[in-house]
Amino acid sequence: MLDVLVLISGSGSNLRALVEACADPEYPARIVAVGSDTEAPGFAHAAERGIPTFIVEPRAFDSRDAWGDELRAQIDAWTPDLVVCAGFMRILPAGVVRAFTPNIINLHPALLPLFPGAHAVRDALAAGVTQTGSTVHIVDEGVDTGPVIRQVTIAVEPGDDEATLHEKIKHIERPLLVDTVGAIARADINLKELVAS
Ligand code: GAR
Repeated sequence: MLDVLVLISGSGSNLRALVEACADPEYPARIVAVGSDTEAPGFAHAAERGIPTFIVEPRAFDSRDAWGDELRAQIDAWTPDLVVCAGFMRILPAGVVRAFTPNIINLHPALLPLFPGAHAVRDALAAGVTQTGSTVHIVDEGVDTGPVIRQVTIAVEPGDDEATLHEKIKHIERPLLVDTVGAIARADINLKELVAS
């Protein structure tokens, strides 16, 4: 059984998909805790299943590194096998990344290396691409630069705006995340090898 800790900042619909997958006894992972940088609405999905939550707010610390040290300690306390950033909207300090890489993955709403950063859906629309999608990648010390694990593609349709396109992306990235975490748990994906290649 793979022990997973999920980091979120927002509505947590991807967290919810993972919570639901973990309710299936055949699914080879379980969520040990959910952390956030804020009072995230998505905590409700954890609370429904009695999954513990914690908040480490940057504004409570004098520096980014001090915030990162506390975040790392809170994550470490759960000794997860895998950390999943599912809509966690902060760049992790290097100390956090080094502590967990390659066992720390991120879900990003674009086909990386295209459109890294916090406004991926808006940036893809502005660029006029006809296809976009979602990427699960290993977190490294850059911004959305770590090795790609899996991607799914969807068409950008005429009339799509940022909200409709993001909703369509979320629709495909939920199963992407569930399948990827399942594959890591079954050792069908080897994160160490991905980093080395
Ligand atoms: C997802 O689309 C995820 O790819 C994106 O935030 C959304 C979270 O949705 N992540 C990023 O933009 C990271 N840079 P959710 O809260 O409904 O799961």
